Amino acid sequence: MLVHSIEEVREEVYSWKKEGLSIGLVPTMGALHEGHLSLIKKAKATCDKVIVSDFVNPIQFGPSEDFDKYPRTLEADVKLCSNEGVDIVFAPSANEMYGEGNRLSNDTLTYVCPPFFYVNKLCGKTRTGHFDGVCTVVLKLFNIVQPNYAFFGQKDAQQVIIIKKMVKDLNVPIKIIQCPIVREESGLALSSRNKYLSESGKKDALVLSRILNNIKSCYKKGIKDVSALKETAYDFLNDKHDLEYLEIVDRESLEDKITADDNSIALIACRVENVRLIDNIYLSEV
Ligand code: PAJ
Repeated sequence: MLVHSIEEVREEVYSWKKEGLSIGLVPTMGALHEGHLSLIKKAKATCDKVIVSDFVNPIQFGPSEDFDKYPRTLEADVKLCSNEGVDIVFAPSANEMYGEGNRLSNDTLTYVCPPFFYVNKLCGKTRTGHFDGVCTVVLKLFNIVQPNYAFFGQKDAQQVIIIKKMVKDLNVPIKIIQCPIVREESGLALSSRNKYLSESGKKDALVLSRILNNIKSCYKKGIKDVSALKETAYDFLNDKHDLEYLEIVDRESLEDKITADDNSIALIACRVENVRLIDNIYLSEV
């Protein structure tokens, strides 16, 4: 069922809660693909009722980012969700979420600001304010839906770490479930932004997963020095790739590593055809 108003979501949720049913929330910005569907499937397997939010959140985009051209495919999203047995697709307008006439800034709205240590690196370094926007909308969605569980992908590793931190620090009574990255057979991590790539751009984009897989196999062969592991990326990069970062950090705390270990995660952001792509890999399955 497609719902646009907060009020209507609350009414449904209230009746489910009265029946003692468990509720799962899958927050998305729409343009749904198999990656999103894997979260939805996990939610269906875990909870009695599932709500998917479908909202391109303006406050998590920087002024020169792709908010206007971000793919919006609500009709197709609703079909996919109904095939998966989703109970509600919640697709509010920006006015519904942030109030009519509100200037979308922290001059006039209450924002959730995750700790500097977590945002001053990786994607947060170039996307100033991005994680404030993410945490703010996610906490609002949590308060609107009041789910028992919320589902996030490892694809956005820094995002899920920051959300777990917010939930812990603010005593939010919701269990965060992290789901693995879904990839094309080629290794390319699924992303709504892959739609911006040409066929040859998609081939060039394979460099992200190749670099990460190679780092993992070098680690398994015994190379532990982070600088040496990062160096291996240059064998893969050419002038089609604009590397933004490649880092190896602790997979829970995001602390930098000098020597990689089984708790390390390698993360990469790279532009291909001016499309900003991200990917990551755990160096060990432990
Ligand atoms: P969006 O990019 O639509 O992603 C929604 C969820 O799907 C995120 O938890 C993301 O990690 C997950 N996801 C995306 N691609 C995936 C893949 N290939 N495999 C597994 N999971 C994948 O992330 C956001 O939206 C927004 O920031 C949001 C949390 C909704 C707040 O606006």
